[in-house]
Amino acid sequence: MASIPLKKKTYPASFLGQWSMFFRQFVKHPGMIGSVIPSSAALVESMLAKVDWQRTRLFVEYGPGVGTFTRPILERMHPDAKLVAIDLNLDFVAWLEAQIDDPRLRVVHGSAADVRRFIAESGHRQADYVLSGIPFSTLPDGVGDLICAETRRALRPGGEFLVYQYSAFVRRLLAAQFDEIVERVEWRNIPPCRMFRALKHESLAQAA
Ligand SMILES: C[S@@+](CC[C@H](N)C(=O)[O-])C[C@H]1O[C@@H](n2cnc3c(N)ncnc32)[C@H](O)[C@@H]1O
Repeated sequence: MASIPLKKKTYPASFLGQWSMFFRQFVKHPGMIGSVIPSSAALVESMLAKVDWQRTRLFVEYGPGVGTFTRPILERMHPDAKLVAIDLNLDFVAWLEAQIDDPRLRVVHGSAADVRRFIAESGHRQADYVLSGIPFSTLPDGVGDLICAETRRALRPGGEFLVYQYSAFVRRLLAAQFDEIVERVEWRNIPPCRMFRALKHESLAQAA
């Protein structure tokens, strides 16, 4: 699925505007969105704290929604780096296209399961980091396993899959694909949120 060219707005949406957009999409597609409100600033800070921004040249985001992580990622990213943001919800894709005007960002409409195709279309081979806000526990059967397997293949050796979730469901899917999982909880989010760093070790990566 292709990205959608829209006229850029000259001002960003207000905080309330973003929440209202997010809530309306939750009412339309509760299973796909998986949360009533966007992630908190505390969660964003904790999730991005360990990223090596100097070394990162390709960052991929699954489920950007209204851009809660997208903007902070762009703020931290190297001027030569690229961010590919993939969302299944066309309304969110159109919203982000209209709201964020940054040549380093490419927003695509589609599933995270097709991450390798989107990376190739962006002129890259593998990503340094993939960050996911997808609600794994409400995905159709088999889709979560496929996304985790494809994400491992999409990451360079030494790359990381960063996942935030309200349940522990995804842990088993990550453990099946990655060499090491580091788990923490961000208590300052509503509700408290589990944070996973799934690591693809350099020495074990030749099989992928
Ligand atoms: C809980 S929202 C996260 C929004 C935002 N990142 C945040 O933290 O506030 C989940 C997002 O995942 C998207 N999504 C669900 N399934 C997806 C899939 N298979 N591929 C890509 N995006 C997906 C939804 O459309 C939605 O934007």
